[in-house]
Amino acid sequence: MGGFAEYVCARESALALKPASMTFEEVAAIPQAAVIALQGIRDKGQVQPGQKVLISGAGGGAGTFAVQLAKSYGAEVTGVDNTGKLDFMRSLGADHVIDYTREDFTKNGKQYDLILDVVAHRSAFAYKRALRPNGSYFLTGGSVATIFQILLLGPWIRGTTGKNMRILAVQPNLKDMVHITELYEAGKVIPVIDKTYPLSEVPEALRYLGEGRVRGKVIITV
Ligand SMILES: NC(=O)c1ccc[n+]([C@@H]2O[C@H](COP(=O)([O-])OP(=O)(O)OC[C@H]3O[C@@H](n4cnc5c(N)ncnc54)[C@H](OP(=O)(O)O)[C@@H]3O)[C@@H](O)[C@H]2O)c1
Repeated sequence: MGGFAEYVCARESALALKPASMTFEEVAAIPQAAVIALQGIRDKGQVQPGQKVLISGAGGGAGTFAVQLAKSYGAEVTGVDNTGKLDFMRSLGADHVIDYTREDFTKNGKQYDLILDVVAHRSAFAYKRALRPNGSYFLTGGSVATIFQILLLGPWIRGTTGKNMRILAVQPNLKDMVHITELYEAGKVIPVIDKTYPLSEVPEALRYLGEGRVRGKVIITV
């Protein structure tokens, strides 16, 4: 959480072998973003063929993996991100796209079996409205206010409506990282890399990330 360096100490048990078929840049995109997506779509979401899945922040690091994973499980996928990323989300497999600068997906009357949200900032009731009966909403990142609302109101909403609203606390682990590389080798998932920067240009890389144009991941090379 929060460092860029040429060397780092890590427990051996935290490290996985890089498959020969992948570049260092590609595997660098996996540990956080792809594991968030895998745990949201497969483990918590338990996506089934034909289900309607919405991914909010679908053009970013975790979202690009989530779209591909949800499609590989046979879901009908809606991606939400900014105007410049609509065609990009379609190219990843999204069946429908929503431009968050023009449309609020919680107000258009559509409902989903699963919503995976990496940029939550609305009220818990808005997200509840966009869920089908027995649908699930998982928040992986967003505003503190929304996180608290989901923590406090989630159990009550579950109890009164059957709609499952929870925070997804991602568990980093080797098995999931290795599974993503296997999906890559099976042609089901590719890490999307927008740009790479050398370590000496980390400030430029962060500035670029902040401009809101990044598609997928920005990678630092050493
Ligand atoms: N729960 C956990 O255990 C855990 C662990 C690690 C990380 N996280 C969190 O998980 C999230 C991972 O995100 P990421 O790496 O995928 O981020 P990212 O690469 O920055 O992607 C976020 C995407 O969401 C878009 N976006 C911004 N506002 C939006 C809105 N209102 N509606 C829809 N899309 C919007 C962004 O577009 P723009 O370019 O327009 O901004 C960007 O494309 C972060 O919030 C991180 O803090 C959680």
